[in-house]
Amino acid sequence: MSGRLRSGSAMTRRRLLTTLASAAATTVTTSLKAPALSRSAQRPIVTHGVQSGDISTDSGMVWSRTDRPARMLIEAATTDSFEEICYTSVVDALPETDFTAKALIDDLPPGQDIFYRLRFQDLSSPKVVSAPAVGRFRTAPFDRRSISFMWSGDTAGQGWGIDASRGGMRTYAAMLRNRPDFFVHCGDSIYADCTIPAQQKLSNGEIWRNIVTEDKSKVATTLNDYRGNYKYNLLDANLRVFNAEVPIFAQWDNHEVMEDWWPGEVFDRRGYDVKSASLLAARGCRAFHEFMPLRYVPSEPGRIYRKISYGPLLDLFLLDMRSYRGSNDVHPDSRYGPDAYLLGPAQTAWLKRELKRSTATWKVIASDTPLGTIAGSLPGAAHTPVGRAIEIADLLSFMQRTAIHNTVWITADLHYTAAYYFDPNEAVFQDFEPFWEFVSGPIHAGTWTPRSQDPTFGPRVIFQSAASGEQGDNLAPCFGLQFFGHMAIDGATGLLTVTLKNVDNRALWSTDIEPGSAHL
Ligand SMILES: [Fe+2]
Repeated sequence: MSGRLRSGSAMTRRRLLTTLASAAATTVTTSLKAPALSRSAQRPIVTHGVQSGDISTDSGMVWSRTDRPARMLIEAATTDSFEEICYTSVVDALPETDFTAKALIDDLPPGQDIFYRLRFQDLSSPKVVSAPAVGRFRTAPFDRRSISFMWSGDTAGQGWGIDASRGGMRTYAAMLRNRPDFFVHCGDSIYADCTIPAQQKLSNGEIWRNIVTEDKSKVATTLNDYRGNYKYNLLDANLRVFNAEVPIFAQWDNHEVMEDWWPGEVFDRRGYDVKSASLLAARGCRAFHEFMPLRYVPSEPGRIYRKISYGPLLDLFLLDMRSYRGSNDVHPDSRYGPDAYLLGPAQTAWLKRELKRSTATWKVIASDTPLGTIAGSLPGAAHTPVGRAIEIADLLSFMQRTAIHNTVWITADLHYTAAYYFDPNEAVFQDFEPFWEFVSGPIHAGTWTPRSQDPTFGPRVIFQSAASGEQGDNLAPCFGLQFFGHMAIDGATGLLTVTLKNVDNRALWSTDIEPGSAHL
């Protein structure tokens, strides 16, 4: 049965989820003073907490999931007492979306703390309503007030699931202590192609013990398998508490579908009874949209790339380098065509247009793929980008020609943290302004050793913290090398402070960047 727990625990899945939901509700209830209602087995339950995301100056998405056909009743207020409700709406949760429901709360004031309360009304017995679940977010400001956010990626990878005796996914608790305006998940929010075994042996001889579910005991191929990956992560109490308090801006990388897939790929991989990566991607994309609180784009319902205007200081560009890329099989050359696509022509044109249109002080580009891992030049072919680097080279030179300044790139994916400074003087392709790329993650996955960087755009390693050669690749999360990044923009001066942090919330490295100065 989908989602059934297989651990040694005698608890049934229903009972565990009820307990978890109750634990999360207790935490939120305590801090947000939601009204306490008695719980009944007859009532719908909130199975996996609440989430918010894609916040703007006047709106934000909210999300939850229940256990039966039910109508989600949405209320929002500017105080946690909910004395004055400023917004109400409804959306139905049906089996067709695995009982998930999400909707946009809009017409909100800017720069305002918003409290939202979600309840599920049983569609078979409309008088039966769930206990409420409460969350919060802050709308983006209209004025130049100071803002902060975090980014990271890579959750529950390489078989490192939830070991309750080790505190579960602790990085989410560390991130919450920063109380940011929002969090950017740069991708690998699930590992659909990695199973979660009951145990893994650690290098120090100890045993890592995972909570296991049936869904995470095989690689994902069906829509329900993909859904089960998100549900697994949401068993973690740290994540559910974080989700209730911090809005998420989610993008995807490859593991939301399968390791290193590309559109149109026909494959024969062990453990897969499906041969088409596009079919898996369609299912993975559907589950991603069901379980992540990102906005819906009517012109392209599955779209993940988007821009979020976060007031006068920040525009955020969330890219998708997976859905439109060319084949992995083609030997790269310097001609631009479908085989060289990374963003694809439509997304590239959109990004140029929106960057040019942006009046925000800072333009932060969140990328699922680090630029130094995009192989982009042939030995001896001076100044000529090839393959997937052609679009990036075109984009960077466009930004130089059209005087688009104050761009910063953020990403995850490398499973260690780093600060790279891309310097045209040290690059194969040189027609661009120098810029920074900051790498963070994993949130809760194996830590890797440093990877070599492709020289096309001249990355210089300014800082990095990774697993050592002795520790090797896939170092377990309990050894402290889990990372996230923090950005703060000062409202008065526009100064951008970037801090790379670890699972203990310790700052490892930090830098201040003044607007208008791209140079070190
Ligand atoms: Fe990853």
